[in-house]
Amino acid sequence: MQIKAAVLEEFGQPLVVGDVDLAEPRSGEVLVRLVACGVCHTDLYTASGVDPSGYVPTVLGHEGGGVVEAIGRGVESLAVGDHVVTLFSPQCRECEHCRSGRTNICLAIREQQNKGYLPDGTTRLSRDGEPIRHFMGTSTFAEYTVMPEIALARVSQAAPLEAACLFACGLSTGLGAAIYTAGVRAGSTCVVFGAGMVGLGAVAGCRLQGAERIICVDLSAERLEMARAQGATEVWQAGPDIVERVQAETRGFGADYTFEATGRVDVMCQAVEAARMGWGLCTVAGVAGKGETLDVIPRWLIQGRRIAGSSFGGVKGRDQVPELIDRYLGGEIDVEPFISHRISLSQVNRAFELMEAQDGIRTVIAFS
Ligand SMILES: NC(=O)c1ccc[n+]([C@@H]2O[C@H](COP(=O)([O-])OP(=O)(O)OC[C@H]3O[C@@H](n4cnc5c(N)ncnc54)[C@H](O)[C@@H]3O)[C@@H](O)[C@H]2O)c1
Ligand SMILES: [Zn+2]
Ligand SMILES: [Zn+2]
Repeated sequence: MQIKAAVLEEFGQPLVVGDVDLAEPRSGEVLVRLVACGVCHTDLYTASGVDPSGYVPTVLGHEGGGVVEAIGRGVESLAVGDHVVTLFSPQCRECEHCRSGRTNICLAIREQQNKGYLPDGTTRLSRDGEPIRHFMGTSTFAEYTVMPEIALARVSQAAPLEAACLFACGLSTGLGAAIYTAGVRAGSTCVVFGAGMVGLGAVAGCRLQGAERIICVDLSAERLEMARAQGATEVWQAGPDIVERVQAETRGFGADYTFEATGRVDVMCQAVEAARMGWGLCTVAGVAGKGETLDVIPRWLIQGRRIAGSSFGGVKGRDQVPELIDRYLGGEIDVEPFISHRISLSQVNRAFELMEAQDGIRTVIAFS
């Protein structure tokens, strides 16, 4: 079938919205009609060309929400008409990692996905017979996409897909960092660095876990107000003195849990140092620039602080994205404030401009 999609033709250039061909789903694959798709930093990061593993041409997009239109042979967990959220982090439920409760990083299709192919090593996307590679296994800046069954979470039909799609990446990453990676205990003191989609999700996650003090740190007063609405009990202007301030306010110990959601290595250091001696856990969700390293004095660790990295918030996508969306439907998570702009697919480059201007939390593409 012929579909409209936003193609990254050349790094550093605007995406080109035009016609591409999409082949039918093969065995274990599903055809999804996109209804909504958030625009995330990783899309911009790849489009800019600074990601060393990037490739062109490709159809970007990974925060998709849509409806199953057709299923390939052997697909049993999904049916036509189901509402789904796309998962750049799949869950096969069979590999060594999926069977372990200790990680959400599935091993099933990693290699081919990273190269831009579906699990059988080919693409369903093409133009004039030339293959176009898939991005993050999702390629959701498109009217339709074909994805592996194991990379789709079936979610409640009661959830508007423009809200559900945010659970495909940033929001689940933040919520999950607090709920699954850190497993914040009730009554804790938490510090969240960064109040973008990920940091605000982490604030909400700390609240859901019953944290007593939730301090959010950011440069933007506007974003700090949003953090307050998500459950931050204190909001602090970012600066070089944050570690001393956390210590001063915790009898010199530091916070039980800290979260880094800025992508800056200097802030990651602050997050490590602001964690409590004895048992403080620093969860790093931000993605640092190419070649950057984290410079931590070992003494901080000897004193009992720990550092955990978190990919997609430790969320096992097919099992736990539906649970998070049920909590949203139950009124526990307020998603509406995160949707700052709604655009059409043809305006996708506008979403990148808004992101660069830090205008709003998420721009969502609404497919007609
Ligand atoms: N681990 C994952 O699976 C995963 C998934 C999605 C995004 N990410 C990463 O998470 C990070 C955050 O994503 P986002 O969408 O929320 O980004 P964002 O740019 O919207 O938010 C970052 C926030 O950090 C704030 N900030 C900048 N300097 C600061 C400082 N010195 N102290 C405190 N705050 C500061 C900014 O004002 C901004 O509000 C990015 O690095 C992104 O790539 C990771
Ligand atoms: Zn993302
Ligand atoms: Zn797996």
